Amino acid sequence: MVKLIQISNLSFSYGKKAVLSNLNLSVERGEFLGIIGPVGSGKSTLLFTMNGVIPHLINGNFKGNVLVCGMDTRKTKVSELSKRVGIVLQDPNSQIFSLKVWDEVAFALENRKLPKEEIARRVAKYLGLFGLESMRDRDPNNLSEGQKQKLTLASTLAMEPEIILLDEPSSNLDFGSAVELYNMLKSLQREGRTIIVVEHDTEMLLDNATRVIVVKDGKIGIDGPTKKVLSDPRIERYGLRVPCPFKKTPKSLRVRK
Ligand SMILES: Nc1ncnc2c1ncn2[C@@H]1O[C@H](COP(=O)(O)OP(=O)(O)OP(=O)(O)O)[C@@H](O)[C@H]1O
Ligand SMILES: [Mg+2]
Repeated sequence: MVKLIQISNLSFSYGKKAVLSNLNLSVERGEFLGIIGPVGSGKSTLLFTMNGVIPHLINGNFKGNVLVCGMDTRKTKVSELSKRVGIVLQDPNSQIFSLKVWDEVAFALENRKLPKEEIARRVAKYLGLFGLESMRDRDPNNLSEGQKQKLTLASTLAMEPEIILLDEPSSNLDFGSAVELYNMLKSLQREGRTIIVVEHDTEMLLDNATRVIVVKDGKIGIDGPTKKVLSDPRIERYGLRVPCPFKKTPKSLRVRK
């Protein structure tokens, strides 16, 4: 069976030190995959290999193969890959470039030459989903960090990509907005889209992801169904947050029998 994403023996370094080394990963259509790992372990780097930004736009030493929807990312233009794969970057400030909220969402749709009415429908729909419709004429630079994060989510989801990559999408959101976002992602998954999300909030993954992988030492350290991975004792050893249901009661608080 052909996987939607197939990464084989992938090694990547920006300079001398390898960030990813001989990493293997395959993702099937319709998965909701959570990616966790310590700070600097290569999670964002791994995402950039899935939309072709690595090796096309970021320099480094790239070895191995990445196939996305059957396309070899090395031989496929980023613009071609972007028709199938959307990404929400970790830092919204590096993604936003328009001077109006409305234009930010419309831009990529216009580039894709969608009919005007369809663009207007989608921009209104996705700004609405993130509660940004009243800000449509504002300069995105003056939005709060959380509002900027919502704007980058709206512009990526408005493209309605088959594979959605998200890098810590809830880091600037309040709890309610994060839950709304994950509900939205879950319904996109139900429609058959593939969701891949780097997330440090393991409780959010526990409620939503079907599978979790841990990036450690340039490889996939742990890989499996969400509950199994998040209850693995190595999670705490790696300095990652053990979700509440799996937290052991400290000895001092245990009831003596
Ligand atoms: N453009 C770059 N040039 C040089 N080194 C880089 C670049 N981007 C990342 N790195 C380095 O590569 C390593 C992996 O970075 P990456 O951003 O992929 O980690 P991460 O797991 O996403 O971290 P975080 O949890 O902080 O977001 C780090 O040591 C980082 O310093
Ligand atoms: Mg990162």
